[in-house]
Amino acid sequence: MSYEDVMKLALERGFYFPSCEVYADAQAGFWEYGPSGVSLKNKFLELWRRELIRRDGMLEIDGSQIMSKSVFEASGHLGNFADPIIKCTKCNSTFRADRTIAEITQIEIPESADLEEFDKAISENNIKCPKCKGDFDKTKNFNMMFKVGIGPEEEEAYLRPETCQSIFVDFPRLYKTMRGKLPLGIAQVGKSFRNEIAPRQSLLRLREFYQAEIEVFCNPNKLTEMEKFSEIQDVIIRVQTDAEPVAMTCKEAVESGVVPNKFVAYYLGILTEFYEKTGIDISKSRFRKLGEKEKAFYAEVAFDFEVETTIGWLELVACNYRSDYDLSSHEKKSKQKFEIMDGDDKVLPHVFEISMGIDRSLYTILEHNLKDDAEHERIVLSLKPYLSPIHVGILSLVKKDGLKEKTDEIYLQIKRKCDAFLDHSGAIGRRYRRLDEIGAPFAVTVDHQTLEDNTVTVRKRDSMEQGRIKISELNSIISESIAYP
Ligand code: GLY
Repeated sequence: MSYEDVMKLALERGFYFPSCEVYADAQAGFWEYGPSGVSLKNKFLELWRRELIRRDGMLEIDGSQIMSKSVFEASGHLGNFADPIIKCTKCNSTFRADRTIAEITQIEIPESADLEEFDKAISENNIKCPKCKGDFDKTKNFNMMFKVGIGPEEEEAYLRPETCQSIFVDFPRLYKTMRGKLPLGIAQVGKSFRNEIAPRQSLLRLREFYQAEIEVFCNPNKLTEMEKFSEIQDVIIRVQTDAEPVAMTCKEAVESGVVPNKFVAYYLGILTEFYEKTGIDISKSRFRKLGEKEKAFYAEVAFDFEVETTIGWLELVACNYRSDYDLSSHEKKSKQKFEIMDGDDKVLPHVFEISMGIDRSLYTILEHNLKDDAEHERIVLSLKPYLSPIHVGILSLVKKDGLKEKTDEIYLQIKRKCDAFLDHSGAIGRRYRRLDEIGAPFAVTVDHQTLEDNTVTVRKRDSMEQGRIKISELNSIISESIAYP
C-alpha cells in the first residue's frame, strides 16, 4: 500500500505522529513514536541484537548524545559535514541545491559535488526560486550539526550527527577492559541529530532520528581470512554496480570482485538474513555501490542497502569501509594510543561500518506488510508475529453473564508472557478489524461456552481461521507462535 496509507495507519493506530503537534511553532523533522511504534521498534531491535550483535559476540555501548568539539574536529564533521544550500535573493527562502535542481530538471548532482557544479546547473537551466521565481545567490555549504552551549560559559559542543563517534573514541578502553580480539564489533543504538534543510516525509528525513550502528574493527591484513564466511557464502544478495541490481551468492560476489573481500561480503550476507526476518520483501532490495562523489567523506568503499517502496528506493543501511580514518584522526587529535596488538601484529585497526536507520526500516516494514484485503473489507498489517506490537487481543463476546470476569482472568494469566490487549467493548467484527490493523496475529474470544468447558475461540489474523482451544493451552500456543526465529 502507499505512503499515505501507512501514514493514516501510523496516525490512527499509535505508531507515530508529529512532535509538539498542538503548537503552531512545532518544527518540521521531529516525530514521536506512540505505543504501537515503540513496541514495534523494541521488537525490531531485539531481532537486530539476536541476528547481528549476539550472533557474533559483539559489544554494545550507550554513549552521550552531546559530545565535545574536539571529537568533531577530529572526525571531520566540523569541516565536511555540510549540505549544499541555495538562498533566494528576493524572498530569502533556503533550499537544498541538489534536491531543487533534481526536482526541477531531473539532473542528479551528488550532494558532495563541488559547489560550482550546482551554480553551473542553476545558470544553464535558468532555475529560479520555486516560491517567488527570484534569482538564487551562489551555492554555499551549511553544516548540519546542532551546536549546543555547555554551562554558563556556553562552551562549544555538538549533538552527535552519528552514534558511532563514541564507539571510536571509546575503542582503546573497550578493547582493553573487555579483552577484545579482532575482528571486534562494537554497536550502539540511539538518537542522532542533523539540522536538515528540508526534513520531509515523516520518518524518512528527520532532524532527530534513531540509528543502530555497528563498527567492526579488523586487522587490514586479514580481510580474506574470515572463517565464518562459510555460514553465509550461499546467501543471495542483490548487488548493483551499474544500471540494474544483479542477484548472486556472497561467494560469487567475492569471486567476481563485485564485493572486495570475504570480510565485507560476510556482513552484507548477515544483514540480508536479518532483513529477510523483518518481513521486508528482500527481492526489492539492493546493495548499491556508491561512486566516488556519492560516498561520505570518511568512506573508502561504500554500499548502501536500499529497498524499493511506493515512494522510490530508500536507503536503510550505509555499509562503509572507513579504513583507519577515524582511529588515526582521534589518535592524532587526542594524542592517546589507539594501536593494539593482534597476535604478534601491532595494528591500528580498520573499521567496517553497518549504519542502520531504524526509523526508515520501520517505515519500510510497515509499507511492505500493510495489505488491503478487499474481499473481506479489511486492512491487515501482516507483520511477523515476533514483531507485532500486540501479540494477542483478549476479547469478551459480551460483558454480561460473567464473561467480563472470565476474560479479565485470562488476560491476567497471559499479560506478562506476551503483549496482550484487553477489549470488552464494541462490535466483535470491528474489534477484530482493529487488531488486524495493528498487526496482532491472534484474537482470543471468550463466550458462553467458555464458562461451560473452559475453551476459547482463537482467530488467526492472516487466514481469519477460527478454532476452539482449551484455556490451559493458550500460553504455550501463543508463546510458540511469537517466538523469534
Ligand atoms: N555513521 C554513518 C552515518 O551516520 O551515516
